[in-house]
Amino acid sequence: MKSNNYPTSLFSSNLLFAKENEFGGDLSIAGCSAQKLVKEFGSPTFIIDQDDFFLRAKAWQAALESEFEDCQLYYAAKAFISIEVAKWLKELNVGIDVCSAGELQVALAAKFPPAAIEFHGNNKSEDEIRLAIASGVGTIVIDSFDEIKRVSSIAQNLGKVQKIYLRLTPGVDAHTHEFISTAHEDVKFGFSIASGSASEAIEQSMLEKSLNLAGIHAHIGSQIFELDGFSLAAERLVEVLFTFKGKYGKELTELNIGGGFGIAYTKSESAIAPDYVIPAIAKVIKTECKKAGISIPKISIEPGRAIVGPTTTTIYTVGTSKNVVLDDGSIRRYISVDGGMSENIRPALYGAKYSVFLANRVSSAKPVKSRLVGKHCETGDILIVDVDLPEDVKAGDLLAMPATGAYGRSMASNYNHMPRPAVVSVQKGSAKLIVRRENEQDLLNLDVDQAPRRLS
Ligand code: LLP
Repeated sequence: MKSNNYPTSLFSSNLLFAKENEFGGDLSIAGCSAQKLVKEFGSPTFIIDQDDFFLRAKAWQAALESEFEDCQLYYAAKAFISIEVAKWLKELNVGIDVCSAGELQVALAAKFPPAAIEFHGNNKSEDEIRLAIASGVGTIVIDSFDEIKRVSSIAQNLGKVQKIYLRLTPGVDAHTHEFISTAHEDVKFGFSIASGSASEAIEQSMLEKSLNLAGIHAHIGSQIFELDGFSLAAERLVEVLFTFKGKYGKELTELNIGGGFGIAYTKSESAIAPDYVIPAIAKVIKTECKKAGISIPKISIEPGRAIVGPTTTTIYTVGTSKNVVLDDGSIRRYISVDGGMSENIRPALYGAKYSVFLANRVSSAKPVKSRLVGKHCETGDILIVDVDLPEDVKAGDLLAMPATGAYGRSMASNYNHMPRPAVVSVQKGSAKLIVRRENEQDLLNLDVDQAPRRLS
């Protein structure tokens, strides 16, 4: 999984602990000190290392381009998107995969070229489909038989022919958490290859004059480290392309193999590097295409986590601590920070593991078995179940949690009416607010006192 030049650890490339020991130290990211960041932007805050984002996006792009003549990197917006990030992607020439009108609107607000947008989702509404087609979205990835008809009829009404892919489920077990595994048979996504749904969907799509079936897509799941799932999926997808050629006498020329590349969340883990995984997948595609006698299609991938996950560090402030005597007589220390499951639901939802470090000073106090918890009214509001923290951690200390860029802010909620944190981009000693912190007034503004309207 290692690579010569790709950062595979949990930290963003420009993150530094001055006078570091195993607990952390005086943290700066891209030259901005954690203490100054919190003073300026409050706490908790997501700090995104802009150069690290560019480095990762470019590495995936380069890996793809060194293997395939015709290829496209998309970034999965669901991991995290904002207008600023969409502008970065435009500058990088990376496409955006969106899966809702909301994500699409962010890309459009950034003046992102619609032709480089791909629209996903297993239940896109008519309004979403209309917005996508009317705004010129490059590819709609169709997920169901209902949608073949729906997209076709909306395209027809708008007088357009819409380029589509079909999302297929290649029947692959992706060795990841059940909730983020997507390509086995018993899931809500896509057309199963094994059951014959995929060939039926191809048949139906080919009959629709307002649809241009250009290719197929599969995404096998997320946070995957093993190659075999990707390889098996690629093999099965090429087989679909082969069957297509035999049946229709022409080729489907595009193949999107999804995202899902795993990253490190702890010091003992290591991200799957683009120059490791892409050549391996490319080898399978090239070999299988050769065997099948078909041309190598345009290949796209759509990682989200692998690009944004390690770029971002959440900085929290410690509020309270409490010692609990456990049954075996040992002490567990609860350290509460000023956020929790509302800006990082992943530990509670998937049992996801994270790491945390002291970010405002060095401590040489002795380690104490601790549990990092949030401030929500819920026992399960745990960010890290077991972590050694120095005995002298106290209210006002800053804690940094790395690798929170993917599915953190994007899955944040307002549980307990907590405003969602700000996102600040840092680069070469400067910090820029890219998503402002919500405030209580933002939340109050949603409450209305409307006169009742008779609907009976
Ligand atoms: N493409 C499609 C069609 C997807 O559904 C996804 C993720 C991606 C690409 C990007 O996957 P990535 O490279 O980021 O793993 N909330 C979960 C992850 C859900 C992923 C949903 N789809 C988590 O926090 O782990």
